[in-house]
Amino acid sequence: MARITAGVTTSHVPAIGAAIDNGKSQDSYWGPMFAGYEFSKRWIAQQKPDVILLVYNDHATAFSLDIVPTFAIGCAEQFAPADEGWGPRPVPVVQGHAELACHIAQAVIQQDFDLTIVNRMDVDHGLTVPLSLMFGQAPAWPVRVIPFPVNVVLYPPPSGRRCYELGKAIRQAVDSFDAELNVQVWGTGGMSHQLQGARAGLINRAWDTRFIDRLINEPDALSHMPHIEYVREAGSEGIELVMWLIMRGALNEKVRTVHRFYHVPASNTAVGHLILENLP
Ligand code: DHB
Ligand code: FE
Repeated sequence: MARITAGVTTSHVPAIGAAIDNGKSQDSYWGPMFAGYEFSKRWIAQQKPDVILLVYNDHATAFSLDIVPTFAIGCAEQFAPADEGWGPRPVPVVQGHAELACHIAQAVIQQDFDLTIVNRMDVDHGLTVPLSLMFGQAPAWPVRVIPFPVNVVLYPPPSGRRCYELGKAIRQAVDSFDAELNVQVWGTGGMSHQLQGARAGLINRAWDTRFIDRLINEPDALSHMPHIEYVREAGSEGIELVMWLIMRGALNEKVRTVHRFYHVPASNTAVGHLILENLP
């Protein structure tokens, strides 16, 4: 049967993608940030996941503000990197896993979660930057990816509680897929950052640190945190962190922290990165 073996969280700052694509990842500004992913690249090369269910937010790229699904799942065979204004990033086309994605859609929708089924979509930095951080500059991504966009751009976002419960439903769905597949769930975005307004540039290291502690050790209690606390403490774009709870809900109650990294600054954002493995 398919099994979820591990979860990864990481920020997705678009300037990280530009640093990689323009050969700046070892300069004095970016070097210390990329150093936090060296372990992760070795780890994932050993883990060799077959499929990543990658929870991210589309930044008004695939979905204009005309139609904004709260939760969506990419069921296509492949997904092209989007043009975000400077042309598409020079990264490989993302190969999906249509069969598993359709199975998850069926199972999760029948567990009362409303997913939007997406059969054609381009993917922006929210999805491609985490892949670049974990796999580097690859000629082809060595894994299939099921894109799972969550709305944290247009008010109202889903609650952390809903995200956590959705992770559990995804877990059940994967467990009932009849194929030998090593599946990881990634929760991306965050940590504290605000890109506009009077509080632009906001970073809250103490709050971020506690968020990571609680995500590991008391995710159920953390999932009750109201959205307004994310925005107040972690900035308007800090709300992206509810997506990390989908990853956590998809893992066992007990997890092993394999890697933990926090770095400020990357553009306007506090970078947070975690690798959690399932314990029985
Ligand atoms: C930045 C961070 C984001 O999460 C994003 O979507 C765009 C920009 C930034 O820090 O520059
Ligand atoms: Fe973002």
